Amino acid sequence: MSLDLDERQRAMLAEMGVRVWAPERPAVVMPVAPPTAPATAPERFAPPPQPVALVSRVGAVGDLNWADLQDTVKGCRACGLCEGRQHTVFGAGPTGANGQPPRVDWLVVGEAPGEQEDLRGEPFVGQAGKLLDNMLLAIGLKRTESVFIANVIKCRPPHNRNPESAEIAQCSPLLHRQIALLQPKIILGLGRFSVNTLLAATVPDVEKMPLGRLRGQVHRYLPPGEVGGAGIPVVASYHPAYLLRNLPEKAKSWADLVLAVQTLKDSS
Ligand code: URA
Repeated sequence: MSLDLDERQRAMLAEMGVRVWAPERPAVVMPVAPPTAPATAPERFAPPPQPVALVSRVGAVGDLNWADLQDTVKGCRACGLCEGRQHTVFGAGPTGANGQPPRVDWLVVGEAPGEQEDLRGEPFVGQAGKLLDNMLLAIGLKRTESVFIANVIKCRPPHNRNPESAEIAQCSPLLHRQIALLQPKIILGLGRFSVNTLLAATVPDVEKMPLGRLRGQVHRYLPPGEVGGAGIPVVASYHPAYLLRNLPEKAKSWADLVLAVQTLKDSS
């Protein structure tokens, strides 16, 4: 296969988990976005800043250990979201011993940092985070002890807009590597972008299915490109920010949590 791929093709390959072979391992910390138009070009003709196309993000992060993965997230400049961030948001949970990933049964995956998370560099610390903490407490989980909380996207999208598919394609390999290292026994996916990312390899056309149809059952997580294997059980549910606006849906969310608890019990 020729390596002369354009950025969209590379993003698609990354999304599908296809590793594009390159003679040398690409640098993990990516360079700053390429220069825009020359200063003399009229403003309206200047091309928008383009994210740096990665030769193979999956290949680049697929063998990182936990500490190197954290550094990679900190220095990531793979898409335009790096321009507006205060902090990257790797995730939160107990600290692992000697730079190892923490040992947790539970992984909660949200979508992207908001304003508070961007300021603090920690996931779910705003209003939605308080609700999430309370929901987790209700099933006996504390973010500092027994659960790791991560997002699909590690940098805040401007004005909390939805993440774009190219941003998800660039960032999701980081989440897949987190999952591979954490090896949780149960994953709770919160919100549309989280659930689409987690179930991309196991639910055909997942992006066309309403979240309401995906919740209430146990799915399976497989890393991109894998077709066999038991995978990790995934329960899909509503995002806490949605619950804050739609209080009656909390009952469904609670049912999803109970389903996740039961699934974990059954598997132990
Ligand atoms: N919403 C998310 O999905 N993640 C956060 O970290 C905060 C809000």
